Amino acid sequence: MKSEIKYENIKTTESIPIPNDPLEQVIGQDEAVKIAKLAARQKRHLLLVGPPGIGKSLLAQSIAFHLIKPTQEISVLHNPENPERPIVEIKTSEILAKEKTLEKQLAGKIVDPKDVPSFVAEKLGFRCRKCNYLSKPQENSCPSCGTEKFKKEYSPFGDLISDYFAIQKADRVHTTKMNDGGREEIIVYEKYGEKIRVLDQKSLEKIDEIKQQKPRKILIPSSRKNFIIATGASETELLGDIRHDPYGGHQQLGTQPYSRVVAGAIHEAHEGVLFIDELGALSYLQRFLFTAMQERKYSIVGRNPQSSGASVKVDSVPCDFILIAASNINDLHFVLPPLRSRIIGNGYEVLLDTHMPDTETNRGKMFQFIAQEIRKDGKIPHATLEAAHEIIEESKRRAKLNDDAPDALTLRLRDLSGAIRLAGDIAIDEGAPYITPEFVKLAIRKNRNIEEQLKEKYGSVWRANASELSRPEKRDYKEIN
Ligand SMILES: Nc1ncnc2c1ncn2[C@@H]1O[C@H](COP(=O)(O)OP(=O)(O)OP(=O)(O)O)[C@@H](O)[C@H]1O
Ligand SMILES: [Mg+2]
Repeated sequence: MKSEIKYENIKTTESIPIPNDPLEQVIGQDEAVKIAKLAARQKRHLLLVGPPGIGKSLLAQSIAFHLIKPTQEISVLHNPENPERPIVEIKTSEILAKEKTLEKQLAGKIVDPKDVPSFVAEKLGFRCRKCNYLSKPQENSCPSCGTEKFKKEYSPFGDLISDYFAIQKADRVHTTKMNDGGREEIIVYEKYGEKIRVLDQKSLEKIDEIKQQKPRKILIPSSRKNFIIATGASETELLGDIRHDPYGGHQQLGTQPYSRVVAGAIHEAHEGVLFIDELGALSYLQRFLFTAMQERKYSIVGRNPQSSGASVKVDSVPCDFILIAASNINDLHFVLPPLRSRIIGNGYEVLLDTHMPDTETNRGKMFQFIAQEIRKDGKIPHATLEAAHEIIEESKRRAKLNDDAPDALTLRLRDLSGAIRLAGDIAIDEGAPYITPEFVKLAIRKNRNIEEQLKEKYGSVWRANASELSRPEKRDYKEIN
């Protein structure tokens, strides 16, 4: 066999290299892989069509690997004028980076207790007021001279004189200093573990400004997955919702509407992939989907008329996703034409292949597939080269049987993967270190579907059907046929 030349030095599938790029792990769908790469780069939608188990989901998931990470953060802000109309705020990566630097600045300067004015170190409990010895603020008396660091709780037996000079325990000390322009500036010293944090006037003003900002909820954080699965999603899962509040959002008792906003899958997939398997099964929800794809933003509203969330609406929440959807050929007519038009208008519809020509290169890909499946499973041993050849022969037989394709290898790989797993389980059961051709043959026999089993037992599916009938029924059956 030709492929033996290529793999002549390989004894088992263990030494077959597996590419890191998940798209390179998709076997035999070269055209689809090419388009998938393009879709990721150009941000295009994709509808993958084909029978079960040929890599539609695998392909879709691999695309996310090629997408750049999301950059924006989306928040909903309290709207004091109209709390039931929370406001959307988008922060770009530049703004987020600036805020990070600011946050660092606001954290102030962390200094050693010996580097602050001594009265500050005393008040914060680091320095002994009597002997100047520095110690941890948790220690109430000086480890060097034993003097109490702080004023005691009032006691009628207290030492009035020493208590008079003792200081009040503090976690924060406010002081002032003259700045270069001759103006007085506030400086705050704070306990920071065994160190001291120094905040200057500018940091304090900034902190005040932040405190005065509108209350907010981060709806879509910037660090998030870029692959969102919405297969079989409900309306609220897909489009978002406003949670119910039994107190109707009452100012004191209730929860403010902005904090009850829940993002939908279309919003979570912003800047990433929204993956929907069996697109047709989404039925009427497809209508919302194509509006969202067109507008790239979609309002979040309370979707339950009985809920207090029904009166809340957040306008224009971004949802700029690429749709990767999959459908079996039989269900294609359940996909709404306007949705298909949106996909074709800004993307591709791709029909996946069910088999590939039996060439040396493609046999090489099959070796890779076998190694991949074994590694993915993690519980079965690797296959010998002969066993891998046996599996490839089976893939050839299946291409002929299922697709009437001579000299081809099947790409209905989920089924084939089942046979590989079974062969692995048999090897484990036998205590064998590798999958050998015998185990593969046994697995193939066990792995056949019912139709194939019926064919073997009864000669044909038709005869098998007849076997279930009673005697008079059988007579009628024969007369009709
Ligand atoms: N082209 C392929 N290359 C590599 N592995 C594949 C391929 N097709 C299928 N497989 C294997 O089969 C498994 C099932 O494939 P996948 O879930 O992508 O099928 P699907 O086309 O989405 O099927 P369905 O229509 O049932 O959802 C994959 O996880 C992978 O292990
Ligand atoms: Mg799938």
